[in-house]
Parts: sequence; C-alpha cells; structure tokens
Amino acid sequence: MGKQNWKPGNMLNPVPAVMVSVTDENGRSNIITVAWTGTICTNPPMVSISVRPSRYSYDIIDRTGEFVINLTNQELVKACDYCGVVSGRDVDKFKEMKLTPLPMQQVKAVGIAESPANIECRVVEKKALGSHTMFIAEVVGVTIDDRYMNETGKFEINESGLVMYSHGEYFSLGEKLGKFGYSIKKKS
Ligand SMILES: Cc1cc2nc3c(=O)[nH]c(=O)nc-3n(C[C@H](O)[C@H](O)[C@H](O)COP(=O)(O)O)c2cc1C
Repeated sequence: MGKQNWKPGNMLNPVPAVMVSVTDENGRSNIITVAWTGTICTNPPMVSISVRPSRYSYDIIDRTGEFVINLTNQELVKACDYCGVVSGRDVDKFKEMKLTPLPMQQVKAVGIAESPANIECRVVEKKALGSHTMFIAEVVGVTIDDRYMNETGKFEINESGLVMYSHGEYFSLGEKLGKFGYSIKKKS
C-alpha cells in the first residue's frame, strides 16, 4: 500500500452539477450544465461559473451578463446530463426535456420551474483562465419551491433530492453525518 503522485489535474470531488439557464436578446432560452461552479462570497452573495468559450451559452452569458443557476435534484438528473451533452445550437433543451421556463424577478434569463431553487445572477467580472472563462456574478434574487417549505417555515432543501457530481458520476445526497458546529457541541 502506497501513495501515487499524479500529474496536476482536477480532483476536487464531489461538486454540484447545476443547470444554468440563459435567455438571449430574442427571448430564446437555453440550458448548460455546469460543474465548475462555486460560492465565493457571503456578503454580497456571489457565485462563479466557469464556461468554455466554445459553448453556445457562453456568448449569451457574455452579452446579456445574466444567468440563472438551477439546482439539480433527482427528478432533474437526466435532464441535467442531457443539457451537458447536447448543444442549444442544435436543440431546444427546454422543449426536449419538457422543462418549464420560469420568469425571474430581477433578470431576463428564465429559470427552470422544476428545480427546487433558482439563483438569479448578474455578472460583475469575467476572467479568462485558460480552457474556461470564469464569470463572477452577484446573486440578485433567489426563488425556492414551496413544496420544500415545512410547517415552521423552514426551507428543507436537504429533502429536495439534491444531486452531486463526483468523478464523472451523479449521486444523491447520502446519510446525514452531522451539522455545522456539532464537533464542539457538548453532549446533553
Ligand atoms: C456533469 C457535467 C458538467 C459540466 N460542466 C461544465 C462546466 O463547468 N463548464 C463548461 O463549459 N461545460 C461544462 N459541461 C459541458 C457543457 O454542459 C456541454 O458542452 C453543453 O452541451 C453546452 O451546451 P451549449 O452548447 O448549449 O451551451 C458539463 C457537462 C456535464 C455533463
């Protein structure tokens, strides 16, 4: 038993695989699956997505400066994969996957109604990194599905069947192991 040293590469796992929706100036919407996404600031709330310039969605994000991050759950995982292997140049992904465009409050880009949470984003910075260009964006609105609100008004997002992506495969959330700060909490 030993350790192997590999050449540099991306080994950060798991990550979310989100469905990023965009709408162009003619009102045509598209969805691109993005795994290179992350939360980068709490206040103001900011996120990033990294997109290859060759993607059909790239120019739309670049021109409009807007996109919506739609969280993927188990019901959406097949559509999520589909939106990551076919291009909006060739097909209408909303139509093919029978997804419903959801008008947003702050941006012209539509969200995906079937997603448990839609995060409206406005680009504030663009950074060419190499293969991918990172769009740094401010979160300007959030829509959540009240199917996942409990009686006490808490958003039970962990009950919505969220999906993660690890080493090329999709998984559902596993068993709960603890909660924030539990390691230093006194046992009662
Ligand atoms: C799970 C998964 C994750 C992906 N992550 C990214 C990503 O982070 N950035 C990217 O540019 N493409 C990513 N892709 C590839 C694009 O989603 C794919 O090329 C898509 O067909 C582009 O759509 P478009 O041409 O309609 O914009 C991913 C694909 C899959 C299946």
